[in-house]
Amino acid sequence: MADIQQTLAASIRAIHDYPKPGIIFRDITTLLGDAAAFRSAVDELVRPYADLAVDQIAGIEARGFILGGAMAHQLSAGFVPIRKKGKLPHTTVRVAYSLEYGVDEMEMHVDAVKPGDKVILCDDLIATGGTAEGAVKLLRQLGAEVVSACFVIDLPELGGRKKLEALGVEVRTLVS
Ligand code: PRP
Ligand code: ADE
Repeated sequence: MADIQQTLAASIRAIHDYPKPGIIFRDITTLLGDAAAFRSAVDELVRPYADLAVDQIAGIEARGFILGGAMAHQLSAGFVPIRKKGKLPHTTVRVAYSLEYGVDEMEMHVDAVKPGDKVILCDDLIATGGTAEGAVKLLRQLGAEVVSACFVIDLPELGGRKKLEALGVEVRTLVS
């Protein structure tokens, strides 16, 4: 696993002062464009859940769609998109949230999950955890059970993991 972590970390590009001065943006397009790294990342993300009966993977726009879609395929689960406001065509539930460099609102279709569904939340990165916290609120509002949340990258100094764990959500990450 240490080797895989190093390979994954090396495949992620750091961009300084994007999207705002002072932010070091962790860019996973370089990981996604590296076939071996992409496969390893998805394999490692799904590994802990191999024996779990999961109904849905919920992916957060936009990068959580890419990883979450691949996870859903591997785990034979459905995929639920959690989108920025105004993008989903059917009736939605909406929540406001803040993240490392701004505030926004996200939505889910009201019928995207059924009460009692076991859902894994997926995104590329957890920083402050504001985005993931908003997603957990939406999923729980619709009665889903968030059995775990997984991310390729953790920025631990920003406290996101602790925020989710305080909500009672198991957190799994690949690279810190
Ligand atoms: C990034 C990232 C997470 C979120 C994490 O998304 O993909 O969703 O920020 O930040 P937080 O833990 O501080 O909430 P972004 O809002 O940049 O959207 P994008 O994927 O559409 O670019
Ligand atoms: N989302 C929040 N903080 C981020 C960062 N530093 N890099 C990429 N995505 C992020």
